[in-house]
Amino acid sequence: MIIKAEGAAIAEAARIIRAGGLVAFPTETVYGLGADATQGRAVARIFEAKGRPRFNPLIVHVADLEAALGLAIFCKQALALARHFWPGPLTLVLPLPPQRRFQISDLVTAGLGAVAIRVPAHPVARELLAALALPIAAPSANKSGRVSPTRAEHVEADLGGEADMILDGGSADAGLESTIVTLAPEPTLLRPGAIAREDIEAVLNCRLADFRQGTVQSPGQLLSHYAPRALLRLNAAGAALPGEALLGFGPLAPEAALNLSPTGDLREAAANLFAYLRELDAQQPAGIAVTPIPETGLGEAINDRLRRASAPKQSHS
Ligand code: TXA
Ligand code: MG
Repeated sequence: MIIKAEGAAIAEAARIIRAGGLVAFPTETVYGLGADATQGRAVARIFEAKGRPRFNPLIVHVADLEAALGLAIFCKQALALARHFWPGPLTLVLPLPPQRRFQISDLVTAGLGAVAIRVPAHPVARELLAALALPIAAPSANKSGRVSPTRAEHVEADLGGEADMILDGGSADAGLESTIVTLAPEPTLLRPGAIAREDIEAVLNCRLADFRQGTVQSPGQLLSHYAPRALLRLNAAGAALPGEALLGFGPLAPEAALNLSPTGDLREAAANLFAYLRELDAQQPAGIAVTPIPETGLGEAINDRLRRASAPKQSHS
């Protein structure tokens, strides 16, 4: 449902997000599909709505630098870029601190040790973030594989059935996504975007290394994902082998298992996935046996993640 972003609409959008819903909202680059970044299940709904076959990490949107400082570790260079370009279309990928003001869902970072953050400049996005006082995880508001939307009508055509509300703030003027930069191990351009490389280099007073495009489709895939040390055995029916820990799904999973969702809810399973893998891995089992998870809806992305964790470890290129 498209709602003009005026009057009580912003407060209503904030209420929907707080309640775990999805709101599409304009930014100065493209429209985003937003959820409360601290609620795993709400974030799982984003992947479901977009039909993303894998859990790519998402950009976290915050109201200002102060809010961002509570979410990530800023080195001097990161601070300089934030002070210069925020609010605006620059996304910084920065290390997560051990102690955080907000607990960002593992699904947002895809279990990585870094989070992508930006402070959008669009007045509607800023009002929404100010009203909410929570970080918003948001990818572009299009179905997976489609072009990014720059008008509320584009979002409606793609995600009209999935978004609880589409805030209409006119057309997004950049139409080009945010530029993504990381600073460690060296300043690197992860994705070219609305802010030119030269402008970032001028602030840093150094050249940006290039992200090598190769076969990798998104910068998130470049960074090594959290992989359990234990070997995973998928589609394990029945009991675990000696020394194996058991990760179950649904009402039929053996009782001894840590269960991703006893009721068989894929959203709940997605929200628990990274934390449960870590928890079992910490017990240092000989292996982790996982009971079958259906290949439907979010099950596809969950199985993709498990398959990649079960493959022999390989170096990331
Ligand atoms: O302009 C934009 O950036 C828009 C608006 C809505 O903010 N958002 C956007 O999101 O383009 P999306 O999901 O379409 O692209 C996000 C990119 C992906 O390529 C993802 O891999 C990367 O950001 N990314 C997110 N978190 C990351 C992380 N922790 N480490 C590395 N890359 C990350
Ligand atoms: Mg996109």
